[in-house]
Amino acid sequence: MHTTGVTSQTGVWWKPAHKSEKIWFTIAFIWCMVLFAMMPFWHLKGGQNPSGIRAKVDPDAYRARVTQFIQDYQVGTDNGIPVVAPPAGSDIYLLGQMWQWIPVLQLEEGAEYTLHLSSVDVNHGFNLYPFNINFQVVPGYDYGLRITPTEAGDYRIVCNEFCGVGHHLMVGKVIVDGSATASASNTPGASLGGDR
Ligand code: CUA
Repeated sequence: MHTTGVTSQTGVWWKPAHKSEKIWFTIAFIWCMVLFAMMPFWHLKGGQNPSGIRAKVDPDAYRARVTQFIQDYQVGTDNGIPVVAPPAGSDIYLLGQMWQWIPVLQLEEGAEYTLHLSSVDVNHGFNLYPFNINFQVVPGYDYGLRITPTEAGDYRIVCNEFCGVGHHLMVGKVIVDGSATASASNTPGASLGGDR
């Protein structure tokens, strides 16, 4: 006789799943399928996905494009960051880097723009405060989002992806001018905590 330490059980040694266990398993499985189906459903019906304009871009080339964009449409500076007022309907550019958003964008209410986002170093997160708009800003990729500002105001771009010791200081700015009276309606829609 071999002594292996393993001896076979005799008879039915396991207990079949109890009825309640089967019910719960079925409920969990159905719920998994519902959640799974929601992903394509929201993609098609949710209207909240990015516009799908994306391309690979060399970080240096992106920086050069942003520099050109600033040269073309700069109207001032804000704490050393150029303020750019691009024409309605144009492609506009925002560059994320440790730990700044460049430039400050001055847009018109009701005008459509294609906002390009990219980073020249590490991942950053584009969060337009106080709206629920979040987007990953990834080095090497240019993401284009079709946007139309609907409310005049003075908004902040908060980096919501940890990107180093200055992460909490990485706050940018978007100014939206009211469509009716360009200069007179420059009242900020919301005072969001002073200068940067
Ligand atoms: Cu950029 Cu955090």
